[in-house]
Amino acid sequence: MNIRIEFGSPLYDESLSLRNEVLRIPLGLKFKIKDIATEYDSYHLGYLLEGSLVGILILKPELHHVKMRQVAIAPEFQNKGIGKKLVSFAEDYARFIGFTKIELNARDTAIPFYKSLNYKVLGDSFIEVGIVHSKMIKSL
Ligand SMILES: CC(C)(COP(=O)(O)OP(=O)(O)OC[C@H]1O[C@@H](n2cnc3c(N)ncnc32)[C@H](O)[C@@H]1OP(=O)(O)O)[C@@H](O)C(=O)NCCC(=O)NCCS
Repeated sequence: MNIRIEFGSPLYDESLSLRNEVLRIPLGLKFKIKDIATEYDSYHLGYLLEGSLVGILILKPELHHVKMRQVAIAPEFQNKGIGKKLVSFAEDYARFIGFTKIELNARDTAIPFYKSLNYKVLGDSFIEVGIVHSKMIKSL
């Protein structure tokens, strides 16, 4: 089930653990308080399976588009279609809050996933958190 998570709620804390496990610990990194403090005005969307949070992403409104960040599916639930359902929910949500374009910085390993959802690579690749990323966009 797709859900919206309130910033600062117990489920938000669960989402931080999931993001840490999937996106940070494998890179030898951790979240800093200052990173999290900037998230109060973002939309936190998740996927619940039998009461457990197994997927998370963030939509951050910018001037002309919404930025999709921190897309993470729990390792044991990857490749089961959950990421696709969550991104599709996020696209509907972005339209609902008035945006017509989504941008994201995709890790190299995730580019085929986003391409399968019709995101297009824009420009050259670059390094972020020590790994190769590419900007990808989709018109809604
Ligand atoms: C990348 C990630 C979000 C994808 O979510 P997922 O639930 O595993 O993906 P899904 O099962 O919904 O896959 C949807 C489609 O993408 C394709 N896909 C997913 N990962 C893929 C990969 N690495 N290579 C090729 N295709 C891939 C699937 O085959 C599927 O295609 P289909 O609809 O034609 O069957 C998830 O695997 C993940 O959290 N990975 C680790 C963290 C990460 O890299 N996050 C993204 C940071 S930018």
